[in-house]
Amino acid sequence: MLKKSSIFLALIRLNRYTVKNFSLALGNRYCRFAEILNDDFLEDFLGRIYNFASGPSMLPLPVLEEVSQKLVDFEGTGMSLIEMSHRDKIFDAIHTETIALMRDVYRVPDDFHVIFIQGGATFQFGMVPMAFLRKGNLADFIVTGTWGKKAHADAAVVGNAHIVWDGSHCNYTRIPAQHELKFTPGAAYVHICTNETIGGIQWQYFPETGGIPIVADMSSDVLSRPVPWEKFGLVFAGTQKNLAPAGLAVVFIQKDFAKSARTDLPAYLRYDLHIKENSLYNTPPTFVVWMMNLTLKWLKSIGGLDAVEKLRNQKAEMIYNVIDNSGGFYVTNIPGDSRSKMNIVWRMQSEELETKFVAEATKEGLDGLKGHRSVGGMRASVYNAMPVEGIKALVDFMTQFMKKNG
Ligand SMILES: Cc1ncc(COP(=O)(O)O)c(C=O)c1O
Repeated sequence: MLKKSSIFLALIRLNRYTVKNFSLALGNRYCRFAEILNDDFLEDFLGRIYNFASGPSMLPLPVLEEVSQKLVDFEGTGMSLIEMSHRDKIFDAIHTETIALMRDVYRVPDDFHVIFIQGGATFQFGMVPMAFLRKGNLADFIVTGTWGKKAHADAAVVGNAHIVWDGSHCNYTRIPAQHELKFTPGAAYVHICTNETIGGIQWQYFPETGGIPIVADMSSDVLSRPVPWEKFGLVFAGTQKNLAPAGLAVVFIQKDFAKSARTDLPAYLRYDLHIKENSLYNTPPTFVVWMMNLTLKWLKSIGGLDAVEKLRNQKAEMIYNVIDNSGGFYVTNIPGDSRSKMNIVWRMQSEELETKFVAEATKEGLDGLKGHRSVGGMRASVYNAMPVEGIKALVDFMTQFMKKNG
């Protein structure tokens, strides 16, 4: 006999929104089943919703399930992996495998080191200029929004942080074209943020800098498309969007560029030391590394980088289509070639309507859609772990909401 608990287990893999619609469709015909699937049941047992938050954000369900199964007793060791020494050979194997997986999945060339550093992306805002700026040199900055501004402000504390282009004149609603960029010959590096998580704009090309290495903050679009590594000196990304929970930045650093980093710095600020110690100079957040390991395996299992890029395009297009065909009900002033495919932002006619939209969406299990407090409006963050079903649910909700309120 089909037990209630096995129904729970089967359904927990689905999403609250999907199950609710399914149960409504069943209606009275299977009223006993529909009764089991009432709202209380959904809230009590089907905790999973579609989480559109910008980070920390949705993680792949199989990854969460595997971690929850193994958390207390890691593969028969009698202890949790997060209770183990980071020098233990069991953790060491996971650590080494995670770096190898990252190289494999992200197609990182051999002339790059892959290192994990604590302090998130924000720490890199300071660590990069401390390592690469010296008396007499400078870095060029392209400031495209909140995260570009923050990186520039930190670099300016340390040395000469020269702004090449600043999007303040257009309220950071677009990415500059190549012809607008004049770089400083001999600059140590050019800083860009490839995806402005708050403003919802993204570089759809990577600029030609005349050979100056690019330093890129890829926190919110890491592992979502192939990267032309030859243009980059250093790429960093906080883990809490496409990779794992918060707690680390993954840093990809070109070997010759790494050699030019200062070494007369306190230990944790030295890239050379992190490289030499294989990211184990001090105690790493072992849980984050483990989660990243599982996320990378999951990403491989769904087809790797090409599959993820295709999905990303499909998901973003579905939402932009609703916005563009809404006759002004949903509005974005970001031109097509600057639109982010990871963080999709839009506004509505009034703040009251926006508040109503967010409240009703939340009730439907579509969470985290409120835009950042500094810009208002709506934002759907559609990282790799967001399934197409989540986008269908959102698009469906947006269409219904427009019909009722338009
Ligand atoms: C593009 C970008 N850069 C940097 C950061 C800061 O990251 P962290 O909180 O890991 O320091 C964020 C955070 O959301 C981000 O979206």
